[in-house]
Amino acid sequence: MLLGREAECARLDALLAAGREGTSGALVLRGEAGIGKTSLLDYAADRAFGMHVSRTSGIESEAELAFSGLYDLLQPFASHLSSLPEPQRAALAAALALGPPVGAERFAVCVATLGLVASVAEETPLLMICDDAQWLDPSSASALGFTARRLDGEAAVLLFAASTDADAQFDAPGLPQLPVTRLGPDEARALLESEAGEEIDEATAERILAGADGNPLALTALSALFGTGGANGAPELELLPAVRRTALRTMRELPPNARRALLVAAASVSGDRATIADALGELGLDAESLTTAEGAGLLAQKGDQLVFRHPVVRAAVYESAPAEERSAVHRALAAVTAGTKRDGRGAWHLAAATDAPHDESVALSLEEAARNARARGGRAEAASAFERAAELTADPDDRARRFREAADDSRLLGQIEHALALLDRANGSSLSPAERARVAHLRGAIEMWNRSPDAAYVLLREEAESIAPSDEAKAARMLTDAAWACFMGGEIARGLATAEEAEALGEQTGGVTSTLAKAALGIGRLLSGDAANALPLFVGYADLLEADAPVRHPYQLIRPAGQVAIWLEEYDLARTATSAMVEAARAQIALGALPYALSTLSDLDFRTGNWVSASASAAEAVRIAEEGGQTSTLAFSLACLARVEAGQGREFECREHAGRALLFASSGVRAVGVFASSALALLELGLGRNEPAIAELDEVVRVSAQRGLREPSVIQSTPDLIEAYVRSGRREAAAEVLAAFEELAEKTQRTWALGAAARCRGLLVDNDEFEPQFELALGWHLRTPTPFERARTELCLGERRRRARRRSDARQPLRSALDTFEHLGAAPWAERARTELAATGETAHRRDPYAAEQLTPQELQVALIVGEGATNKEAGAALFLSPKTIETHLGRVYRKLGVRSRTDLARLLAAEGALTSPAPESVSPA
Ligand SMILES: Nc1ncnc2c1ncn2[C@@H]1O[C@H](COP(=O)(O)OP(=O)(O)OP(=O)(O)O)[C@@H](O)[C@H]1O
Ligand SMILES: [Mg+2]
Repeated sequence: MLLGREAECARLDALLAAGREGTSGALVLRGEAGIGKTSLLDYAADRAFGMHVSRTSGIESEAELAFSGLYDLLQPFASHLSSLPEPQRAALAAALALGPPVGAERFAVCVATLGLVASVAEETPLLMICDDAQWLDPSSASALGFTARRLDGEAAVLLFAASTDADAQFDAPGLPQLPVTRLGPDEARALLESEAGEEIDEATAERILAGADGNPLALTALSALFGTGGANGAPELELLPAVRRTALRTMRELPPNARRALLVAAASVSGDRATIADALGELGLDAESLTTAEGAGLLAQKGDQLVFRHPVVRAAVYESAPAEERSAVHRALAAVTAGTKRDGRGAWHLAAATDAPHDESVALSLEEAARNARARGGRAEAASAFERAAELTADPDDRARRFREAADDSRLLGQIEHALALLDRANGSSLSPAERARVAHLRGAIEMWNRSPDAAYVLLREEAESIAPSDEAKAARMLTDAAWACFMGGEIARGLATAEEAEALGEQTGGVTSTLAKAALGIGRLLSGDAANALPLFVGYADLLEADAPVRHPYQLIRPAGQVAIWLEEYDLARTATSAMVEAARAQIALGALPYALSTLSDLDFRTGNWVSASASAAEAVRIAEEGGQTSTLAFSLACLARVEAGQGREFECREHAGRALLFASSGVRAVGVFASSALALLELGLGRNEPAIAELDEVVRVSAQRGLREPSVIQSTPDLIEAYVRSGRREAAAEVLAAFEELAEKTQRTWALGAAARCRGLLVDNDEFEPQFELALGWHLRTPTPFERARTELCLGERRRRARRRSDARQPLRSALDTFEHLGAAPWAERARTELAATGETAHRRDPYAAEQLTPQELQVALIVGEGATNKEAGAALFLSPKTIETHLGRVYRKLGVRSRTDLARLLAAEGALTSPAPESVSPA
């Protein structure tokens, strides 16, 4: 009977009831050791009438076994594997060792887990319980966290319990938490009385109650201690040591064989009964020995497993055994687990059994275990096995290689500090130049993507120089990456120079090395304003991408082609390339590549005037990049999101997102910082706050020029600065900046820049000269689908005509501008157009809020995909949600928008111009 847990039980009951009704939920119980988390999980399991219940528990151990938690939870439902799409089925089967390794994307297992849970819950509501989640193997933890965050309409409940006292932690961002707190005095006394009966006098009871301070495990442990005569002398009043002492005392009373059997169970980690029995046999012990240990209550049988009464008991058993005895036990366990295919534990047992500082044969087995884990998608476990293997390796190069492999796995998991620490350990004075260069190259890549592109540049350049005499190709590749690091840091001139060196070196080796160097040089030239000499350099690269299917690493999907096409104003090409990149990333569940692809799409949609989609894509990019801990892409996504919000005048959101982007950028991708600042400036300009806009943009424009950025399409801010100058009366400053911008526009012949330059000129010239300037600008705008640019020109034109007292002439461009701004959702700009119109004597009414404005980002994303004609299943696959959850979101969307069907929804979105592709035939109004 649980005392004093009415509220907690009610919460669990409600979760279960909702789950049965088809509304999923997840909950993380958190609290100190012994507070009653497991008891609450037991309560939920007892009350899960009519539900499937599956259960697992994390185990504290360095011998991490990838997906063992997931295996416990999902193995009972293995028959549902066949309901998953093939790549997911294969990935999950491999993870659970129910199928061959397939080397799938890390997130394929996550998505498959969600799919399997949804499929099981479709038949019977499902309760999954995960105790001691802080010790869950990291691969399972990430798959379950991913799933829990996405559950919504599937009739599944996922419960976790995590101790706040352990060294390990269960991070569960985005999941609801329930803190489990200490019992009140009345409940504590009631518990003590039920535990200790009448044996205890009041004075002792007071001491126990004071010592335990409302912790149930402390109460039971302390009363047991007193009950067995522990009252003599000062009893341990601290919880875990008390539990440990009771355990050790019980153990000392056991015969030696039973103690040894206990050690086998403790060392086995898995607690698998059959394995333990085999190992006992190996050691010449009989099964009887274990039965005695069980009789003493230190451990109990649960299913096929022997589980210690408490993790502290297991630790006590293990730690109190002499070292040579532990080695013998591990050797026996290694012998019996060597052949089992799910298990890399044989290698770990060997590692635990060895007392030599270096042991190549054990290192080899660990390396094999690591590769196995990796092939099954268990990156975290691969990293630990490689790390342990490296520690046991004597040869410096092999040792460095193994640390490097561990670092590579760690960085893919977003554990950047750990990855760098591993690389520190890889470095040694006796490395061969080739291995030293490999270590440096990986460090450079990590620095560049996750920390400081500047530091990456310095390191890569230095190391490229030292490897160049012996390996030109390696030097060329490192210099190529050094050039990319410059571009990410916004240092265009330096990047160009570096790419030139890389290209020259690459020329001598040819092949892919040369192609990659040429592509970097192409980007360098393009950013430096020399597009004509840049384009030919991309030819080989394009072929390489074509030839490169299937993709093996997510970063291979990160292709700048879409971005380049955007800068060149080849918008159709950009859409084809970017959509292909998004679709490939979705299909391959390459969540590492998706945020970049979606951000590029957002950039494209912003420029071409589909702001609804631009904000939905950027918001999704932010969500995924955040979840995957990809800071540099996250910064880019945040800046893209902030820019749409700037245009829409959503000040609060814009500031928050731009602020976060700036924070990431300040220490790393400074190129993104410039982008975020320009978004803030657009916000200020739209809201008519010219001085803050100037303050932001002065810096942006000056710094970009200083660093050698000469391609006006990259950061489209200069016209904003000019406009802000004009509006604040600083005409000279405006003229100066405009002259330079006109020159750049002429030189590059970018249509939008020519148009914007003419608009700015139109703002500056005298009353009798502005008409031809605006006419020129509008002519340029006709050539590309960039409605925001065009509407801004119309607004400026209308303003000038009105101030020149040509009120009726002013109305037409103002009406057109207002129409476009409203369509875009550019609220502050629409407001300005409306005010101007009013000044001409015409009243324009405010429109009703658009559909998109009433939805959450996720509902919007669902609405857009369904609006474009996707089924629930297709939408679920694209957004990594279950079809049921899509249905749930869609229900909310229908209610908010007052529509009844997908057809109505599509029609509504199409009418508001929110769809990128035209709505399907059947729904377009006649
Ligand atoms: N509310 C309660 N009423 C009565 N007994 C309780 C209550 N909560 C826990 N207990 C008892 O206290 C002991 C410890 O509880 P439990 O194992 O659930 O704690 P825990 O939080 O899971 O601890 P750990 O962090 O060590 O896993 C158990 O013997 C349990 O039966
Ligand atoms: Mg517990």
